[in-house]
Amino acid sequence: MSVVFQDVSYAYGADQPPALSHVSLTIPDGQFLGVIGHTGSGKSTLVQHMNGLLQPTSGRVIVDGLDLADRRSRHEVRRHVGVAFQYPEYQLFAATVREDVAFGPTNLGLGAAEVDGRVRRALERVGLAYDEVAERSPFHLSGGQQRRVALAGILAMEPRTIVLDEPMAGLDPRGCEDILGLVHRLHEDGMTVVMVSHSMEDVAENADEVLVMSGGRVLMKGAPDEVFSRREELYRVGLDVPQATRFQSRLRAAGLSLPQDVHTIEALADAIVASVGTRTKERYQELAARAGGVAGDRVARAGEDAGATKDAGATTQGSDGR
Ligand SMILES: Nc1ncnc2c1ncn2[C@@H]1O[C@H](COP(=O)(O)OP(=O)(O)OP(=O)(O)O)[C@@H](O)[C@H]1O
Ligand SMILES: [Mg+2]
Repeated sequence: MSVVFQDVSYAYGADQPPALSHVSLTIPDGQFLGVIGHTGSGKSTLVQHMNGLLQPTSGRVIVDGLDLADRRSRHEVRRHVGVAFQYPEYQLFAATVREDVAFGPTNLGLGAAEVDGRVRRALERVGLAYDEVAERSPFHLSGGQQRRVALAGILAMEPRTIVLDEPMAGLDPRGCEDILGLVHRLHEDGMTVVMVSHSMEDVAENADEVLVMSGGRVLMKGAPDEVFSRREELYRVGLDVPQATRFQSRLRAAGLSLPQDVHTIEALADAIVASVGTRTKERYQELAARAGGVAGDRVARAGEDAGATKDAGATTQGSDGR
């Protein structure tokens, strides 16, 4: 589903400063949009406009051609746009997991068999075994499991767009990986995904486009390569680039010939192999010494892994041409 913001401004009260100021953007159908920005920049306020939970003080939000200023349009759009708030598990309420996940589809007026099928599919999708969790109290599950139950409740509505406000917040690395994997699969299945995240890595690796919010305004919107190459501007608003990009910068500064736009670990690994794969041992040691610190250790290790055992003076093939 496409989501269009037309000059949207929003204030939480007449005496409050605007939380959003003149936001205009288009999220095309099927896109994975990553939303980043410093704390208080308006990310949560923005995403709550996507299914009409908040309504603009001025401007318009249009989802699949429906203007959310209209009550019936909001009602219709809410069936298709699922929004997971920060810590969605706080909204679990039912006595059993099954009832909690069934709440949305039951309210749609679906029959018992359809609701049951949706609950089973939704739990399976988030990686929970129906037979193990369905009759348990959601409050007796681990935090990570509770998060998944909450997401299952949204998926049971079978939305076409899912909006997730920091879905990995507070989870351990494995829990983060599970949720990110789920979000990735939802996108692959054709859903439009909007994900607010404080992790530049997660955004760089998954998003088609990145939206950078600052002070309630859109600072940038573009492909990850484009956004993360504007490092100085990101710094100025308290953000950073992915670790892979910082590492690549260090290697470039140390004299390694690498492409400018490397923002994921995979791309960086490929670039390093392409650049140094055939160097001599001594050349690696020289580069490692120049890079210093962690970057230097990595260069040295990359050299060992690449089997750079030739003696000094041996010819360097397929290198970067410097
Ligand atoms: N319920 C509210 N009442 C009044 N002001 C609010 C409310 N929620 C948010 N704000 C204000 O609106 C602005 C934007 O807040 P918002 O929660 O959208 O930021 P955010 O980018 O999601 O931040 P974070 O990264 O901390 O979640 C902030 O100045 C905040 O103080
Ligand atoms: Mg927020």
